[in-house]
Amino acid sequence: MRVLSGMRPTGKLHLGHYLGVIKNWISLQKDHETFFMVADWHALTTGYKDTKHIKDNIRQLVIDWIALGLDPEKSVLFLQSMVKEHAELFLLFAMITPKSWLEWNPTYKDTKYNLLRIHDLELTFRGGLRDLVKEFLARQPFRVEDTEALEEDLLDVIAQAFVKALFDGKLDKEMLRKLNVSKREFYEVDTYGFLGYPVLQAVDILLYKAEAVPVGEDQLPHIELTREIARRFNHLYGETFPEPQALLTETPRVPGTDGRKMSKSYGNAIYFADSEEEVKKKVMSFFTDPQKLRKGDPGRPEICPVFMYHKLFTPHEKVEEIERDCRSGKLGCVDCKRMMWEGLETFLRPIREKRREVEKSAHYVWDILTEGSRRARELAQRTLQEVREKMNLP
Ligand code: TRP
Repeated sequence: MRVLSGMRPTGKLHLGHYLGVIKNWISLQKDHETFFMVADWHALTTGYKDTKHIKDNIRQLVIDWIALGLDPEKSVLFLQSMVKEHAELFLLFAMITPKSWLEWNPTYKDTKYNLLRIHDLELTFRGGLRDLVKEFLARQPFRVEDTEALEEDLLDVIAQAFVKALFDGKLDKEMLRKLNVSKREFYEVDTYGFLGYPVLQAVDILLYKAEAVPVGEDQLPHIELTREIARRFNHLYGETFPEPQALLTETPRVPGTDGRKMSKSYGNAIYFADSEEEVKKKVMSFFTDPQKLRKGDPGRPEICPVFMYHKLFTPHEKVEEIERDCRSGKLGCVDCKRMMWEGLETFLRPIREKRREVEKSAHYVWDILTEGSRRARELAQRTLQEVREKMNLP
């Protein structure tokens, strides 16, 4: 079976990435033909403004991949932008993909919803200020010919200042939450490229005729669209692409230090690039059962994020004892966290060492990506040749 998946290079990887997706990738590379792609063009669909860190992000991502166990001998690790065939097939798919398919895509709809809310907000804001601005103008010693036009101008300026504050992240978090808009999702992501994000993803998959795509649940709409594009192409020009299947892991929802889902944006993540000291500090700051205030209080392992980690990283024979002693109150949270840290460190230490080793070489990652992309390109060129023939293109 041919397997392909990808990730955008947006920063360091954390435990959630590993348990959710990469662990699955690593076990697949043993028995299947696997392709793993750094989706740097995808990163541009929302992050086109600030491209300073793109090369470093690509490098750090691949360092994490290799440290975690993706093996360039077993898998083709490649960079999307090193295989220009992605751009050609993207153009051809753009011709046959109905715009409505993209507009109905949930990821796109969510974003669009946020955009519309900002517009709404501006209107509400202007509505609320109109009388004040009228009054303000009436109190001025000067008169203009067209008061209404001036009013409108003033309202515009104020509303824009408000939206700008929103853009710049100057409104406080509480306010943003009440308004139900997220900082990332502003007008600036409302681009042609962003609308086309799933088309590019369909290209990534179909260019290699991958049959299986191991991803997180959030990617299901994208895979569905890939299947639809494949069907449409096959219908129009003849059987060419297989319809790929998503491969989901039963992801244990990994909690971060505050008990919420681990995520960069919550600031609760444990990174593979973290030092031993940083990890220890984070572990000791973990939220636990809020009813267990001191040693002696009985705890509830089933709701405790620390216990979830014990189940993942502490030797099995100790986990039962921890569970029992937490429940009885014999085990305090500080000791419990220290034990958890030990188990976690046993897992993290070799990864950190491998990371350091790989990081030493400035060109190792680029060598791997160059070689991987060369191999990917061979396959990509074959598919494109077939596509051109089917479409009667010269
Ligand atoms: N959209 C994916 C994500 O954000 C990344 C991605 C790009 C991808 N191209 C892909 C995943 C192809 C699977 C297959 O995680």
